[in-house]
Amino acid sequence: MKEQSPIGVFDSGYGGITVLLELKKVLPQYDYLYLGDNARAPYGTKSFDVVLEHTWEGVQKLFQLGCELVILACNTASAKALRTIQQQRLFEYPNKRVLGVIRPSAEIVGAITRTGEIGVLATEGTVKSCSYEIEIRKFFPEVNVSQMACPLWVPLIENNRHWTDEGKQLIFKDMNTFLKKYPNVDAIVLGCTHYPILLPLLEDIVPKNIVLISQGELVAKSLLDYLCRHQWMESKLSKSGTIQFFTSESAEIFNDNVLNIFHIYINAKKISLPWH
Ligand code: DGL
Repeated sequence: MKEQSPIGVFDSGYGGITVLLELKKVLPQYDYLYLGDNARAPYGTKSFDVVLEHTWEGVQKLFQLGCELVILACNTASAKALRTIQQQRLFEYPNKRVLGVIRPSAEIVGAITRTGEIGVLATEGTVKSCSYEIEIRKFFPEVNVSQMACPLWVPLIENNRHWTDEGKQLIFKDMNTFLKKYPNVDAIVLGCTHYPILLPLLEDIVPKNIVLISQGELVAKSLLDYLCRHQWMESKLSKSGTIQFFTSESAEIFNDNVLNIFHIYINAKKISLPWH
């Protein structure tokens, strides 16, 4: 009998669930394995080499769990590890594929802006990598890309403190700093998987003429397109509509935080990743 495989979704922690939920909306028929490397998060402040090795270990774990296709639902991992994994590591696994989350946003963002000024908010690692700027310019060479790192946003979300008055003030302050510095920006990519969780708050802060771009839906549509074009991969995917969650941290903490942040009940399993 032909072996069937779930789609792997990898993130440093909880943020990738924003992508997973959109994948599930657009492609509900497939099975998904989500792995959050919570024990080693955040990735946003880690060096290129460390993010690469952590990400590669996470991807290989998902391969061991039966995934043939893995989505790096983490911008920092996509920025720092995807290219090396695709070009230098996957030869060990010739029938498996790893895709990232930066390109789907880069492909459309230039068509949204009217001023030609695009903003990117992301982790320090993603900003320093300039991956968004490089990818966006491939499709829209004439646009300007202004980036800012928001290093407090991920810890605020991971600790479920983004809804406190203090949390809101910090987010408000960062957003206003960005808007003052780049007044012509009219499209802002939320270039970190955690940031769409802040969307209701951010929509209250930014002027109505500015479009906030969350990646989840774009990544899901891009995957749909990929699977239409790669039938050999699509035919290997199992289709029972299930989601299984794995974390490198305590499963109880993971379950509680997913409930707090996303209001969904899950039953995660703990797995260990090699560098513990
Ligand atoms: N998931 C990461 C990203 O999208 C943010 C969290 C982290 O720093 O690990 O960049």
